[in-house]
Amino acid sequence: MNFLRFQDLCANGQAKNKRVFIRADLNVPQDDSGRITEDTRIRASLPCIRMALDAGAAVMVTSHLGRPTEGEFKPADSLLPVAKRMAELLGRDVPLLANWVDGFDIQPGQLLMLENCRLNKGEKKNNEELSQKMAALCDIFVHDAFGTAHRAEASTYGIAQYAPIACAGPLLAAEMDAIGKALTNPKRPLVAIVAGSKVSTKLTILKSLAANVDQLIVGGGIANTFMLAAGLKIGKSLAEPDLLAEAKAVIEAMKARGAEVPIPTDVVTAKAFKADAAATIKAATDVEDDDLILDIGPETAKRLAAQIRAAGTVVWNGPVGVFEFAAFENGTREIAQAVAQSSAFSIAGGGDTLAAIAKYGIEAQVDYISTGGGAFLEVLEGKTLPAFEILQKRAAA
Ligand code: 3PG
Repeated sequence: MNFLRFQDLCANGQAKNKRVFIRADLNVPQDDSGRITEDTRIRASLPCIRMALDAGAAVMVTSHLGRPTEGEFKPADSLLPVAKRMAELLGRDVPLLANWVDGFDIQPGQLLMLENCRLNKGEKKNNEELSQKMAALCDIFVHDAFGTAHRAEASTYGIAQYAPIACAGPLLAAEMDAIGKALTNPKRPLVAIVAGSKVSTKLTILKSLAANVDQLIVGGGIANTFMLAAGLKIGKSLAEPDLLAEAKAVIEAMKARGAEVPIPTDVVTAKAFKADAAATIKAATDVEDDDLILDIGPETAKRLAAQIRAAGTVVWNGPVGVFEFAAFENGTREIAQAVAQSSAFSIAGGGDTLAAIAKYGIEAQVDYISTGGGAFLEVLEGKTLPAFEILQKRAAA
């Protein structure tokens, strides 16, 4: 992907004394009292901010927080807790500025946080006038918000059209590089693990990957629907029988290319969805009418782990079983360990996947862990993200 990198502009001295507008994704979870419960996104935004300050720029950073009503400020929508947390992490003041769209004073060396950009009227609809006003605030627009890269809003897209220079910050650039390496030009075999409760929510992803990957490992409720499509019984397990034709089409599309969807040959079942339910390992052909499949079996896990270890590239989205319950975590743990041990380039994303990666302590062995939720899924769907599109367009102009 061809796009301008903020890192290069800084290295060339092009950011010195310039007004730099950073769009970050600081949309962090908060509890009822507004306390931040998880600050990964704030931490992930710091390299770009430090880079801009070190380069001698006047630095403004903004983000959305939640989905507020435009033009209606409520204290719960304020970025104030985020500014305070960032100030602690940076060890310097991070003043928060409201009503910033029409302009303000800022000097090189200063850092300002601009209040929740989704409070501005026209933000969501990528309003042209708002975009132009924001673009006028800066010399360089830096998109560093991968979590929001699938949105075409005024602070993510419109501003990139009109700012004198539009480039990718280090976080977005790393995501773009990792995605390019994993999906555009992958070292083969390319193995994708797609799991989750419903085929319907990931059907576009399954179809898109079916055209590209060598092995499509399915897990969770998705695997149950594929087992049904392969003629196996799944008892009372979660599945979507009305999507059998779609699942069969994915299996056939893969077969036609000499690729495969490995169907589990053994499973771990229980009679109830409970952490302390008795777990039974059985052949996939022996599932009873009152069984719930809660994990892949050990034989299947070993076979899939071997495929992952032999892969050139692994893309992982979703745990293959109910890994939160000890009796049903073996499949997900084996997959995680195989991803960790594999010499393949590995990229992972999605909330549950990140929880599994943390549980098995393999963060350091996964080559790239995506910070994007919906954005990562849209990449897997084969969509061109608006952020990637506009930054490439600007680089080509
Ligand atoms: C996210 O939390 O996935 C991103 O910040 C995007 O938020 P949005 O879905 O409200 O656009």
